[in-house]
Amino acid sequence: MQTPLQEIEAFLPCPTPDAWIHAAAQPEHLELLLTDHAHCEKKAASTAMTLMFRYVDRADLLNKMSRLAREELIHFEQVLAIMEARGMQYGHLTPSRYAHGLRQYVRTSEPGRLVDVLIIGAFIEARSCERFARLAPHLDEVLAKFYRSLLRSEARHYQDYLSLAESYAGEPITERIAFFREVERELIETPDSEFRFHSGVPV
Ligand SMILES: [Fe+2]
Ligand SMILES: [Fe+2]
Repeated sequence: MQTPLQEIEAFLPCPTPDAWIHAAAQPEHLELLLTDHAHCEKKAASTAMTLMFRYVDRADLLNKMSRLAREELIHFEQVLAIMEARGMQYGHLTPSRYAHGLRQYVRTSEPGRLVDVLIIGAFIEARSCERFARLAPHLDEVLAKFYRSLLRSEARHYQDYLSLAESYAGEPITERIAFFREVERELIETPDSEFRFHSGVPV
C-alpha cells in the first residue's frame, strides 16, 4: 500500500529541485514564501467556489468543492495568524507563472474545460503537498508542524480533484494527465526569475 504522499510523488513528473528548497529555507525568503502561500490558499478557495457557480447541477462537485473551499479559507487564516505572530506584513504580490502556465491549455468546450480545470487542480494540490513535505524539515518547529498538518488535507484535495475529473470525463483521462504532467515538469524544472511557493528553479 502506498501512502498518500508516495501516491502524490508518483503522480508528479519530478521532485521539487533542491535549489528551490534551498532558496525557500533562507530566513530572508520567509515573509515572501508565507505571503505567497496565503495568496495560494485564498486562490484555492476562490477556484473551488468558481466551479460551484459554474457547475450547479453536479452534486458530487458541489459537496467536495464546498468543503475544500472552507478548508482552504481556514488554511488562509492560519497562515495570516502565523505571519501576524511574527510581525510580518501580508500584502499584494504578483502571482507566480505556475497556475497560468497550466491554465493556458484548458480546453474551451465542455466537458473538456471542466476536466482540465480539475486535472490542474489535482496537480496544484499535489505539488503543494510535496513542497510542504520537502520543506518541513528545513523550517522551525511551529512552521514544520503546520506544514505537516497541511499536507494531509492537500493530499485529500488532490484525490478529490482527480476523482471528480475521472467521473466527469466520460472517457479515460490518462493522456490528458500525461500532457499536463509535462507542462508541470517544465514549470518546475526551468529557471524562474520570481521566487514563489510554486516557482521553478531560482535564478
Ligand atoms: Fe490549503
Ligand atoms: Fe488544498
